[in-house]
Amino acid sequence: MGKKLLIKKERKVNTGDRDIVVSKFEKHLIDDNNNFGTQFGIIKKADLKKNKVKVGKEEFYILEPVFLDYYKRIKRLAQIITLKDIGIIISNTGMTRDSVVLEAGTGSAGLSCFLANIVKKVVSYDLNKEHQAVAEENIKDLGIKNIDLKQGDIFKGIKEKDFDIMVLDVTEPWKAIKTVEKALKKGGFLVSYSPNINQVQRFVKSLSDKFLYERTIEVIEREWTVKDLILRPKMKDIGHTAFLTFVRLIK
Ligand SMILES: C[S@@+](CC[C@H](N)C(=O)[O-])C[C@H]1O[C@@H](n2cnc3c(N)ncnc32)[C@H](O)[C@@H]1O
Repeated sequence: MGKKLLIKKERKVNTGDRDIVVSKFEKHLIDDNNNFGTQFGIIKKADLKKNKVKVGKEEFYILEPVFLDYYKRIKRLAQIITLKDIGIIISNTGMTRDSVVLEAGTGSAGLSCFLANIVKKVVSYDLNKEHQAVAEENIKDLGIKNIDLKQGDIFKGIKEKDFDIMVLDVTEPWKAIKTVEKALKKGGFLVSYSPNINQVQRFVKSLSDKFLYERTIEVIEREWTVKDLILRPKMKDIGHTAFLTFVRLIK
């Protein structure tokens, strides 16, 4: 894609009794066809072919970006499913490179793009044209070819069948149960992602006897500061995102 990842570590100087931070950590995903201007000076485009470059007293490391570097910069119109929750969806459904997965709604295609990088194919439904336009842009920017974007209401049924895994990230997931019964493979997993526990309650109550309810979980991610003598959880809110309910189609 003609991009490079530029990393500059935090730089400290020792003043005798303590370390002082003189320049902060920086990370940039940049176009390697142009010079890059930093606050310390210009990095010439020819230098972007090297492994590292010095600008004044600062050292920038030049890396080839990976999927995650691009992914973290996707456009977000609707709230996207967070990495901590994506991880648990992947591990609890055991999806592989052979899996065919459905997501509804697509939103900005955060989850769809991440999963498409792992599985065989993602079919992604949304009824909102504006969201789909952003999703399309993100899919194109990431160079993803195995997402089939569909405009439609998941509650009204879909023509595709035989999904290995279906993920619902819609406000009223219980309204999609009939669709899932017809489109999910026997033995396949349904994951429902809901911010509120009353949504979970209604969803679970609405499941027919074709489903086996497995579990509902919430993933709490606690980041720690590990810096000199400061060794403790970061002082920021423990962010609740959503509850994940895992269900399996058994008949
Ligand atoms: C929170 S966003 C999904 C975000 C997405 N999972 C991601 O990770 O980027 C919810 C989306 O569901 C769509 N939606 C709501 N009801 C729907 C329905 N009945 N059928 C299809 N899409 C629906 C909305 O238009 C919205 O774009």
